[in-house]
Amino acid sequence: MRYTNADQKRFFEESKKLLQTEVPSDIESDTAQNLAQQLRQIIQYHEWRYYILDQPVISDYEYDSLFKKLEAVEKHHPQLIVPSSPTQRVSNDLTEDFPTVTHLSPMLSLENSYNAEDLNDFDARIKKLIKEDETLDLEYCVEPKFDGGTIVLIYENDLLSRAATRGNGAAGEEITNNVKNIRSIPLKAKFSAHGIHKVELRGEALIRKDLFDKVNKKREETGKALFANPRNAATGGLRVKDAKQVSERALDAFIYQVSKAFDKEGNEVLNKFETHEDSIQLLESLGFKVPKLDFERKVCKNIAEVSTFCTNWERDREKYAFEIDGMVVKLNNLASQEICGYTSHHPRWAIAFKFKAKQATTKLLDIEYQVGRTGAVTPVAKLEPVELAGVTVSSVSLHNADNIESKDIRIGDTVLVERAGDVIPQIVKPIKDLRDGTEKKVIFPTHCPVCGSPLERPEGEAVWRCTNPSCAAQISGRLIHFVSKDAMNIDGFGEAYIDRFYKEGFVKQITDIYQLDYDKIAELEGFGKRSAEKLNKAITASMQNPAWRLLYGLGIRFVGRTVSKKLIAEVEKIQDLAKWSLEDLMSLEDIGPKVAQQVVNNLQKPTILQLINDLEALGVNVQRLESEKKKAIDSDAPLAGKTVLFTGKFSNMKRSEAKRLVEDAGGKVASGVSSKLSYLVAGEKAGSKLSKAQALNVTVLSEEDFLNLVNPS
Ligand code: IVH
Repeated sequence: MRYTNADQKRFFEESKKLLQTEVPSDIESDTAQNLAQQLRQIIQYHEWRYYILDQPVISDYEYDSLFKKLEAVEKHHPQLIVPSSPTQRVSNDLTEDFPTVTHLSPMLSLENSYNAEDLNDFDARIKKLIKEDETLDLEYCVEPKFDGGTIVLIYENDLLSRAATRGNGAAGEEITNNVKNIRSIPLKAKFSAHGIHKVELRGEALIRKDLFDKVNKKREETGKALFANPRNAATGGLRVKDAKQVSERALDAFIYQVSKAFDKEGNEVLNKFETHEDSIQLLESLGFKVPKLDFERKVCKNIAEVSTFCTNWERDREKYAFEIDGMVVKLNNLASQEICGYTSHHPRWAIAFKFKAKQATTKLLDIEYQVGRTGAVTPVAKLEPVELAGVTVSSVSLHNADNIESKDIRIGDTVLVERAGDVIPQIVKPIKDLRDGTEKKVIFPTHCPVCGSPLERPEGEAVWRCTNPSCAAQISGRLIHFVSKDAMNIDGFGEAYIDRFYKEGFVKQITDIYQLDYDKIAELEGFGKRSAEKLNKAITASMQNPAWRLLYGLGIRFVGRTVSKKLIAEVEKIQDLAKWSLEDLMSLEDIGPKVAQQVVNNLQKPTILQLINDLEALGVNVQRLESEKKKAIDSDAPLAGKTVLFTGKFSNMKRSEAKRLVEDAGGKVASGVSSKLSYLVAGEKAGSKLSKAQALNVTVLSEEDFLNLVNPS
């Protein structure tokens, strides 16, 4: 290890501090010297974590900010610049394994932007450079910033004659044979028909996300080391020693730029294209895989359109088949590009729009333990607030004791947190290199943090549970579940009311809900007569609910909505189920031993039977309604015999409603994507399920398609 843990921790903490401080424009020479030195050390450290270990501890945005601070110091005091400063180099991926070849034109990096304001600044800078009126619109080509391995291709006499990696920008590694195994790269292309004899193209070799999963699975089966991410699989794939392995990795490639073109006489002919878009259209017509027009690429009329296109892609990035880390914005007119020119690091006519990081590091401050209605104790990590893909996260579930132990998570650790698509944030792992010995091992409680009763962990389960059914946390959890939308659906009665009424002593058990004193409620602060009446109405209405809602509302483990409906369809009233044996229950379709055991254990308990009888006496319906009777399977039902899975966010239905619609239409909700799945219904921000379904040729429906299917009007 190049750095000790103590050094790493110091660099990490200094980075966070420096990120909070501005570099004053009148910084004095001595201070500047120290600051420059500190920044260089820190930046070098982060480059090592990023490029060598592939385990960055700060986001790209934070790295860029540190880099900009160093640039600012060096700008004010140019005498401080040393050749070894990170600002003085272009990045490099050269090794001695492949011959080095010089590119026809140097490939620079791209400057980064992060928001609409940065894009507007970029637009204003360009207008100044090309002396364009500020009020006029400039046209930009925008496309994904592919996160793979750069390739630079040369076609001569219509044949692919050379392929190279980006290398240090000026020269790269020759990898022609490997690239010839990428199927989407034509070995022959009729450039000559367009007066081009020799041409240099740039693009990116990539692997599709779903194929990456497959490749890794296969490697796992054959005992090979797994790739950390699709980018590593792609860049590694470009440099394999045996070209045949390229096909094994299922590499693909997009071409996104013509960087040089010559005619037979050796004259430059790039100027035969008026715009970047023209050059891409030629590539497309010659059979190259380029970003698709009006999907992956767009010619935007002005910078506002660029902003919208970029933010839409940021929103939908998870749905896309490839990993991308941003968008690239290029001035469309090539003559204007030339006027803008280049700095020593990047073209002035292009900029990357970087997406917000899905991963970040932050400090684990403490662990709290929450007790649910079944007594399950869930450890919840309290984090120093951190922004993840645009949302501030300060608390994430750690699930259970095993998860903490297997990841060796300790209080005080710097942890890597991730939030991908609509998935809830997770702690991926602690960064052990940043430990200094003050971190504390997690000691899972032996007693309930709410009522103090001993915790118990049933054989074969991951969860510790409070053993006291009268535990306040369990009681309020059960009450909250009972009134929830999915159960008794008591409008307006939520967690806040339960907590309040519980504290006031109004509700201690489920039956209290139907014996509330509304005059007393009306007197509570923040209530009043009208809200008390409204609540009364909602609670009274719930008494006529179908019986399955009550059964489900009792919160018996494994007895979800579907099982509740199935059970009620078999009996006249809920209490009849108490007479059913394990075998009786297991003879029903889809009722397994685990579910059956829970039904028997609970419904034969005098306390639960008493509760149901008491509720009945209070006027709550326990009888099966006509509508709950077993329906003969209607083979004409729109989804008879079909399986459906949902992914992403929907605007017109909740997940629970969607599930009900499927069941009502005779279908079943599947648990994962497989080739047997009939339909995947994809909403906004659909993620890997969508790409997997597409790869397996599963029919994908929009929310609207789905609603039309189940509700043909
Ligand atoms: S344009 C100098 N377009 O980003 C500008 N680059 O270029 C020429 N990259 O490692 C490059 N997707 O491989 C351009 N659509 C895209 C890109 C893209 C990814 C990568 C490129 C290079 C880095 C900076």
